[in-house]
Amino acid sequence: MLKKILIIGVALLACFTLYVALIDVEPNIEQQEDEIMSPETERNDEVDSEDPSEKASEQVDNPTLPEVGIQKMDQGKSVQELQESLQKAGYEINVTSKYDDETTWAITDFQLQNKKLDATGVYDSQTKEKLQKALDKKLTIDPGSRLSKPKQEQHTNKTKVIDNPYEILSIVNKHHALPDDYIPEDLVIPDVRFPFQEDLPQKQLRKVAADALEELMEASDEEGLTIFAQSGYRSYDRQDTIFTSNVDEHGEKEANNFSARPGESEHQSGLTMDITTPDLNYDLTVEFGETDEGKWVQQHASEFGFIIRYPEGKEEITEYQYEPWHLRYVGKKAAKEIMDKGITLEEYLGLK
Ligand code: DAL
Ligand code: ZN
Repeated sequence: MLKKILIIGVALLACFTLYVALIDVEPNIEQQEDEIMSPETERNDEVDSEDPSEKASEQVDNPTLPEVGIQKMDQGKSVQELQESLQKAGYEINVTSKYDDETTWAITDFQLQNKKLDATGVYDSQTKEKLQKALDKKLTIDPGSRLSKPKQEQHTNKTKVIDNPYEILSIVNKHHALPDDYIPEDLVIPDVRFPFQEDLPQKQLRKVAADALEELMEASDEEGLTIFAQSGYRSYDRQDTIFTSNVDEHGEKEANNFSARPGESEHQSGLTMDITTPDLNYDLTVEFGETDEGKWVQQHASEFGFIIRYPEGKEEITEYQYEPWHLRYVGKKAAKEIMDKGITLEEYLGLK
């Protein structure tokens, strides 16, 4: 009898232990599947194996992640919270409460390590989600492994090669060049009208800009307008060929008034598209600003994140002639401020 009771007792204990083990293990399986199956862990393949209870206590110490929507030029408490979180994630940055070059660098480097994220330098909702995972040690990152930390700017008369060609607020002008070998990693062909059929490289834009251009074109179509995209991405070498040919035809000084030296063209960033209309025989001329299409773009481009990069009357600042056809993607927040105030990207960034 005693033996029977003992056997039943052991069997009950075994069932209970199995039940407890199952409840405990199930969420971990789900969590691991999420981490192991998600593409970012193909790059971040070291999923932390610490005791879950230790993870919980670390989470309590994590700084609060601020609301999304902050970006370069913003400042205040939210930026401070973001900087503290980036420090905690391993980025050696100063907590200045200003969304400065270092903060933009850390965000961009973090985005480049997660292939689901757009490398824009902007703290958006997808970036917040992944940063939370990194802080909770569910995602391993290697700070600075994709983008070098910005160097202290040297004040020389020479053109500076910019440290962060990925951020959507990058400055590219006669004093700030893209690295010769910079080719955007996320070029796509937007689904918009072009006046030619071949899939030439100049049809391409970076994904964020391509999506925005499609929206802009749809909205202008609804107004009965006919905008065509003409020229987007250009490699360093392609710009070299174009600039050299313009210099041969017009001389260097005149050419550089409308054509950028290689490295100094925004077209290499993949964030720029020249647009035109059939009424102008698809040419890129100042008359575009007087067409219905040009007027509509002047008024509405910012709603889609674009600016007219070389406005009329700002030639001394941009150092290029008025180009009503040259759209540059900077994101909606900066575009609205730039176009509402009638300023240039240089002025927005406090460079002039
Ligand atoms: N037309 C502009 C300045 C460029 O060549 O990039
Ligand atoms: Zn252009």
